[in-house]
Amino acid sequence: MITTVKPLGSTIFERIGNTPLIRLDGLTAHFGGSASDIQILGKAEWANPGGSVKDRAASGIVSDALNRGLLGNGKGLLDATSGNTGIAYAMLGAALNFPVTLCMPSNVSPERKKYLAAYGANIVWTSPADGSDGAIRKARELVAAEPDRYFYADQYSNDENWRAHYRTTANEIWKQTDGQITHFVAGLGTSGTFMGTTRRLKELNPAIRCISMQPDSAFNGLEGLKHMATAIVPRIYDPTLADANIDMDTEVAYKMARTLGRQHGILVGISAAAVVAASLQVAEQEAHAGRDAVIVTILPDSAEKYMSDRFWQEQD
Ligand SMILES: Cc1ncc(COP(=O)(O)O)c(C=O)c1O
Repeated sequence: MITTVKPLGSTIFERIGNTPLIRLDGLTAHFGGSASDIQILGKAEWANPGGSVKDRAASGIVSDALNRGLLGNGKGLLDATSGNTGIAYAMLGAALNFPVTLCMPSNVSPERKKYLAAYGANIVWTSPADGSDGAIRKARELVAAEPDRYFYADQYSNDENWRAHYRTTANEIWKQTDGQITHFVAGLGTSGTFMGTTRRLKELNPAIRCISMQPDSAFNGLEGLKHMATAIVPRIYDPTLADANIDMDTEVAYKMARTLGRQHGILVGISAAAVVAASLQVAEQEAHAGRDAVIVTILPDSAEKYMSDRFWQEQD
């Protein structure tokens, strides 16, 4: 007799999201008696199959393009990326069988280059001096020259980027905190994470304070993040959504990355260390004011792709 076995296991899309929320209690222990009333929680986005938060935006962008027939049947995906979105696109392209071409500054970490090569993506390198904006200009040039060859995913302007976080990240946080979240802190790259999560959290409870974080200068080591005052501002970015913004110094982020590794056993990427440092500032303000707080932040990736950076070796 022939039996029909229903498909088991998870598809690539189903494996994205539902990441753990990890407690960063050790960081707030020094607040003394009120320590238990201030919690910092980090969403461990490295648990996504491509290793970063960008799996969410990329899967939203790709599934929308596939549904609308903009991608596939010979048409490949093209975008500019500083690394993680590229890895996510490359993974999805390999899994779903469409070509992926990425424009990116040639100074992205050697680990990222290896991941992209392993997934078989085509890379167009741009000058490190032009940063992520140089990669954006190159992608626009390529698509203008051959519009029929590419679906230009344009993560900086594509509403599917923030909508992925509106649909998934925010609702996961709400559930994982039993609705007790008081503050949300996230870094700004394309701004998709901050925009989408904030929009949904404010619907669930308008009292949640949503705080963005960005590098404090144009020249910084916070890979994946943008200094909005000097960058090509993403079309999806709306600065009025943030209740406050924290400007982050690269050295403070490096130090936090070392502290998290050496004293808490958590190895995170640089932008994750930066948002933890920003969350600690928020925690200090709230502790000072004698208020309870449940602060949730997004840890975009782990330390895995930054292990060759030299800042890990410094002593504090
Ligand atoms: C390591 C890292 N952190 C943070 C971000 C910022 O996320 P978003 O683009 O959603 O603002 C990115 C984006 O590429 C990233 O790669």
